[in-house]
Amino acid sequence: STPGCGANAAPMLEPSLFSASKIPAAFIWSEAIQENLENHQEKFIHVPTVDIALFRAPSTSQKVAQIAAQASADIGFFHVVNHGIDQKLIEKVHVHSRKFFELDLSNKQKASRLPNESFGYSSSFAGRFSSRLPWKETLSLQPSPVSNIPLLLRKVLGDKHMESSSKIFTEYSREMVRVGLEIMEVLAMGLGLDRASLRTYFERPDNSSILRLNYYPPCQQPGLTFGTGPHTDPTALTLLHQDNVSGLQVLHKGIWSTVSPCRHALVANIGDTLMALTNKRYKSCIHRALVNRMQPRLSMAFFFNPGFDTIVSPPEQLVNDANPRAFLDFTWAKFLYFTQSVHRSGVNNLDSFN
Ligand code: SIN
Ligand code: FE2
Repeated sequence: STPGCGANAAPMLEPSLFSASKIPAAFIWSEAIQENLENHQEKFIHVPTVDIALFRAPSTSQKVAQIAAQASADIGFFHVVNHGIDQKLIEKVHVHSRKFFELDLSNKQKASRLPNESFGYSSSFAGRFSSRLPWKETLSLQPSPVSNIPLLLRKVLGDKHMESSSKIFTEYSREMVRVGLEIMEVLAMGLGLDRASLRTYFERPDNSSILRLNYYPPCQQPGLTFGTGPHTDPTALTLLHQDNVSGLQVLHKGIWSTVSPCRHALVANIGDTLMALTNKRYKSCIHRALVNRMQPRLSMAFFFNPGFDTIVSPPEQLVNDANPRAFLDFTWAKFLYFTQSVHRSGVNNLDSFN
């Protein structure tokens, strides 16, 4: 396994210290209470490591592809190392994200995400009349085909300070696309397909990927809420980088297990769209993010998606008598609309879609 990516990080949940201040009822999740989250014994999961440098070497490509395929069929998660992204760039994205979230709420709200829109700043702490709110703030940015990154950041940071953050987020997004396409090659090879057969779905001018920065403030009663409730990602592939505070958990064999932070690795997870594209050979698994009493947590998610009008239909080699079609064809646009309009918790989005 990779150094520093072991299953041995310090447990994140403090023993129950009763706090005088209570979190608002809107943030309380019955699922969290039922699990007695605050007193449970945290389990860690070893997720396999996919080494991109080894994949590039012809003598080891097949082996790496097999590791990726096995992980994608089983846990739906793997670490990606030797991805070729400058570690300094990753650290800068953390710094610029943190700087953004540490601004006053009223300032951040100048870039507010409007109802039914996918982009902008959103906070559960700002008067949303709802229940089961996630304990987090997010900033969602669109790097392509037409970037809205400078536009959104300018509203909050002004002309002078917008440029450096915009440059960092744009550069990082470009790297995410490069790594995403490379992982599609690994995942295609792992299914015995032509190397290019999956990446072609993503090399489109209307590619609709999203960079979402997540900020989870500390919570007085972390056992009553979720930073992100249990869900599957509608995306094709999610590429996540977490800071060194743990919180990400995947439901594997019925047990919630923590995916430990790893500074030099990306966490890749299979989304619903890739599950459909691979005729269910790869699985999009239910996961969530916990919060803690002590430290804020930052994670950067890149949602790697096909173009809006791309037909999500598996390559014909993946469909045969033993493996009949698991899902009907759909477009990413239609599926995205569906996942945004219906709020489901703890079930795979595709189960109720088609
Ligand atoms: C998510 O799955 O949406 C968030 C994951 C994380 O913050 O670790
Ligand atoms: Fe997710």
